[in-house]
Amino acid sequence: MISLSQPDLGEKEKQRVAAVIDRGPQLTRGSEVDAFESEFAQFCDTPHGVATTNGTSALHTACEALGLGRGDRIATTPFSFIASANAIRWCGAEPTFVDIREETYNLDLQEFEAQLRDGEQIDAVLVVHLFGLPCDMAHLTELAEEYEFLIIEDAAQAYGAAYEGTPVGSFGDAACFSFFPSKNMVTGEGGMVVTDRTNVAERARSFIEHGATDEGYDGLGHNFCMSEITAAIGRIQLEKLPKYNEARRHNARRLTEGLHDHIVPPIEPAPCRHVYHQYTIQSDARNTLRRALAEHGIGSKAYYETPIHHQPAFSEYDVHLPMADRLSTRVLSLPVHPQLSSEEISHIVDSVNEHSP
Ligand SMILES: Cc1ncc(COP(=O)(O)O)c(C=O)c1O
Repeated sequence: MISLSQPDLGEKEKQRVAAVIDRGPQLTRGSEVDAFESEFAQFCDTPHGVATTNGTSALHTACEALGLGRGDRIATTPFSFIASANAIRWCGAEPTFVDIREETYNLDLQEFEAQLRDGEQIDAVLVVHLFGLPCDMAHLTELAEEYEFLIIEDAAQAYGAAYEGTPVGSFGDAACFSFFPSKNMVTGEGGMVVTDRTNVAERARSFIEHGATDEGYDGLGHNFCMSEITAAIGRIQLEKLPKYNEARRHNARRLTEGLHDHIVPPIEPAPCRHVYHQYTIQSDARNTLRRALAEHGIGSKAYYETPIHHQPAFSEYDVHLPMADRLSTRVLSLPVHPQLSSEEISHIVDSVNEHSP
């Protein structure tokens, strides 16, 4: 079976984890977490990194650290993992769903701008760089300046992606990452908040330790701290990430070159650098194709078959988002991970071509 994702953990990770265990009793925050935070922040071209238990807690922490909460409205996409919108609700704010673009799967900023012009009041945007493709950050930052809202980047799927040569994670007031096993770099569970705002980093650091400050516990928080073992794995994975991303980009090129013209491949519009967390095509016969691929031993998945506003937990959000609805019936993600062999890529291409009308 060619799996949709395949984490690559090897000898180096094992040795680093063994070193942490051999070093002694420090299993919670210590030198590995400190080093991982600063190395990861540097990778994103930001001064501060705060390591968390996972991407969901990173998003929740970022919202809290930016002072967002009850009475605030945060615009976001309906076409993402549910964590993006759940984080908004956990901090007490309300999500406002904005439809997406057909060709990029990212927020439709023309439509969002029209809503702002019509007087829509927004305190922040939680923008997701979906499947590894950056959103149009020039346009979004322009809107943020004009309409005075904060930007949180959900870059869980996009580390190493760039817009105009600038890494994602360095545009927003804060940005969040996930090291879930399907991601471009993995630690099992794990997440990170990065920010260039010192006070936001301080508040994030306090929030993940139950509101700890020099004066005592000041405010409500959580235990969202990363362990030394997780950070040890993360540091090795971060070293390997550029190689992984290059392999994903190479595999994506091979897939796009091989697929028939009538299959809609992912695009990489200038000035974006795509890192292909998912290689997502559109097909008129998505469900038939998915079944046929399974019979050929190829894993695939429809991200996202049920957009967030149609999930039972969001039933009170009565919004009309036609593009998200349309794409949810058409998208299919194919394997693109770095462990694919040349023969496996050919097999994927041939099978998709054979079973696409
Ligand atoms: C876009 C997006 N945001 C947030 C998350 C949540 O991350 P985690 O699973 O580490 O909590 C994920 C994925 O898992 C994701 O894909």
